Amino acid sequence: MNKLTSQQQVIIDQTREFVKQQLSEAEGGHDWFHIYRVWKTAIKLAKEEQADLFIVNLGALLHDIADAKFHDGNEEIGPQKAEAFLKSLLVEQQVIDHIIHIIRFISFKNRNQNPGSESRELQVIRDADRIDAIGAIGIARAFNYGGYKGRALYDPSIKPNLNKKKEEYKAATEPTINHFYEKLLLLKDMMHTDSAKKMAQQRHQFMEQYLEQFYAEWEGKR
Ligand code: ADP
Ligand code: NI
Repeated sequence: MNKLTSQQQVIIDQTREFVKQQLSEAEGGHDWFHIYRVWKTAIKLAKEEQADLFIVNLGALLHDIADAKFHDGNEEIGPQKAEAFLKSLLVEQQVIDHIIHIIRFISFKNRNQNPGSESRELQVIRDADRIDAIGAIGIARAFNYGGYKGRALYDPSIKPNLNKKKEEYKAATEPTINHFYEKLLLLKDMMHTDSAKKMAQQRHQFMEQYLEQFYAEWEGKR
């Protein structure tokens, strides 16, 4: 379970190449390097949390294969692509079904749609994905995303809204700083695994320190 066979390693290597090529034109927040970071973090968490390494490797690599945001909201493209690819490598159906389930339910937006029992592997990958949304990398990704959408950095007159519904969250046009309060600062309390909680704690402190500096600079105080 926690050791990969050479056949599994080959499948992981091929999946890595496939994902890299699929995401060659993706924007900065969801590009191959996002996958790379989530993959590395997920492996670390999987080892600490005794999750199945093969599932975690494949799930982490394939989790953003076709983000619905960039496909007119179509949430079926990712699972379909992943399934077709894994079938072509003759991966067993039980493994494919687990990966598809992970891709479907990993998203922050879909978080309330799967209240039943979640696998450790799904939790590990979701934690790793959330970890990549906080800390220094998380800050860079948020401003990158805001820039991609043409949003302001900050506007003191527009207050964060913590009660957004899924559609409002998707359609948000607020300044990027608001995203810290609507999502990034909430993530540390949403980690499933103890290993991720520890990582999140440190990154969270870094973001708080960043915001303090940001507001001080905004007023010309530092
Ligand atoms: P997920 O794929 O986990 O649902 P998203 O696709 O919503 O997450 O976000 C991907 C990245 O883009 C994250 O780093 C997130 O913080 C950033 N992002 C998403 N929405 C916004 C926003 N409104 N403003 C700034 N950054 C955002
Ligand atoms: Ni992701």
